[in-house]
Amino acid sequence: MIDSAIDSVPDHDRDQRLTNLQIFLEVATEAALAGGAVLQAFSGKLEQVQEKGRPGDLVTEADKAAEAVILEVIRRHFPDHGILAEESGRSGSETAGYLWAIDPLDGTTNYAHQYPAYTCSIGLLIDGNPQVGVIFDPVRQELFRAATGLGATCNRRSIRVSQTATLRQSLLVTGFAYDRHQTADNNYAEFCHFTHLTQGVRRSGSASLDLASVACGRLDGYWERGLSPWDLAAGVVLVREAGGEVTAYDLSPFDLYSGRILATNGRLHGAISQELLQVKPLVNSGQLPLPEN
Ligand code: IPD
Ligand code: CA
Ligand code: CA
Repeated sequence: MIDSAIDSVPDHDRDQRLTNLQIFLEVATEAALAGGAVLQAFSGKLEQVQEKGRPGDLVTEADKAAEAVILEVIRRHFPDHGILAEESGRSGSETAGYLWAIDPLDGTTNYAHQYPAYTCSIGLLIDGNPQVGVIFDPVRQELFRAATGLGATCNRRSIRVSQTATLRQSLLVTGFAYDRHQTADNNYAEFCHFTHLTQGVRRSGSASLDLASVACGRLDGYWERGLSPWDLAAGVVLVREAGGEVTAYDLSPFDLYSGRILATNGRLHGAISQELLQVKPLVNSGQLPLPEN
């Protein structure tokens, strides 16, 4: 997919921009592979699994160690870039217009249970827009990469979204945010609604893996609320570059800081949006008692 912004600039500027994106992509790859190696080294050997505040929102020594090696790679190459990382927050400068959004372990709950679905997710925003995305799944050894105007790949082979054109033939994916116990807007009703209309709705427990799965056509669409920029930045680039569509639920432009996303193969985008806007929260959901222990 060719970016129209790139199309409208002179050839040498465009070439320079694409060369820069290629460099950012290589650095993001180096960082994601380094982070993934740390995750595999800690896998099955965790000693510190703590709740960060909300029930079920976990952090482990692997999250922190993977983030440290990722930040070392990014800072070594781009000391003047800004960073927004899940465990350490904001650092560096943003004056250059570059902000790296990093989730060192997306799927911590899975990881802590040794359920093999998690990634390192690294996105780069340029002037506020996601332009580079690398998602590394160390379990399947799959490296998903994309940059605006450079296409999307998995293990260096080009990927495309699916061709599925009807909800009845579709397989979707979603997730449930850690605040689901505190809000009636917890996505339970939407999950039931689409389970009824489609061939199924999966919940992988890793938002970046969900986006990568839409990008490579294994799944046809993904929606979720309550997300953070580091969950989404890389995957958004992948889905767009693989020919898919990314917006808010109501088809308005996607906002990385809104917490909500609708990402599909494009063909199903309107239909999923329409259904999402009709769903009413389940009676009493959000007020269900939690087990004592
Ligand atoms: C979580 C995962 C999950 C999504 C949650 C995220 P974490 O990230 O992406 O799929 O449903 O909302 O917070 O905590 O494993 O990095
Ligand atoms: Ca995450
Ligand atoms: Ca995480």
